[in-house]
Amino acid sequence: MPESSYTETDYESAVEIAPGVFWVGFYDAPSGLHCNPYLIVDGDEAVVIDGGSRPDFATVMLKILQTGVIPQQIKALIYQHYDPDLCGSAPNFEDAIRQKDLKIISAGENMMFIRHYSISSPVVSLSKLKFQYEFSSGRKLQFIKTPYSHSAGSFVTFDHQTGVLFTSDLFGSYGVQWELFLHLAADCIECKNLSHCPRKLPNCPVNDILNFHRNIMTSTRALKYSLEQIAKMPFKILAPQHGSIIDDENLINYVFKLLASLEDVGIDRTIKDAHQFDYGTLNNTDL
Ligand SMILES: [Fe+2]
Ligand SMILES: [Fe+2]
Repeated sequence: MPESSYTETDYESAVEIAPGVFWVGFYDAPSGLHCNPYLIVDGDEAVVIDGGSRPDFATVMLKILQTGVIPQQIKALIYQHYDPDLCGSAPNFEDAIRQKDLKIISAGENMMFIRHYSISSPVVSLSKLKFQYEFSSGRKLQFIKTPYSHSAGSFVTFDHQTGVLFTSDLFGSYGVQWELFLHLAADCIECKNLSHCPRKLPNCPVNDILNFHRNIMTSTRALKYSLEQIAKMPFKILAPQHGSIIDDENLINYVFKLLASLEDVGIDRTIKDAHQFDYGTLNNTDL
């Protein structure tokens, strides 16, 4: 794994991660939780995926303007679950866009929560859209539900044209070292000792990904089920809402395999830890 390649100027502009698909986030050094909003541009139409938190809005909108898109071209805001780190700026987007035909798209399970962000546009459910959004050109975005990874209404969005899969919190990470694209040294792939880096590096980005899923996802079963749904899609790039984009086939396979076999996720980990604590207490009492 290389040392972080971040320099002060690396991420000052929107970054085109595939033709017409832009990362419009920013390097959020103090938080460690980098939020990755994305913009998809198709002709003179655009959609925003997981637009970001309220304090981030000015920066995200500036990045969108840098791509040449003006707010009135944004036809839809897609929210892949209802957390504030992705929905917080929804009313700011509405204020900037000011178009009657603007749609907010999310799963039905998220609607009752999303309306608490003081939005005024209609929230359209995935089922009403038959699980796809279609641009005027005919380009399609497909929505795939990933229930309880980590919300009941979580889903991911697949852009058939570019092969980008927008995965929201799945494939996300929390870590102080960050790069927009995940890089690993060749000998780090298939590493057998993720918790004790053989290279003695302070941060393993793969371990950060696994820990994020252990903490954020609800259960081992939910994570496995979601990955099974995702595996059916012919994606080429994984674009999560946190952490790094994964665009290398070997890395995608490596991380996917590790997550699919991850145990003790969410409540499973909590219950296991509680049992271990109980037995520890019992043993102490016995002594
Ligand atoms: Fe979330
Ligand atoms: Fe998130």
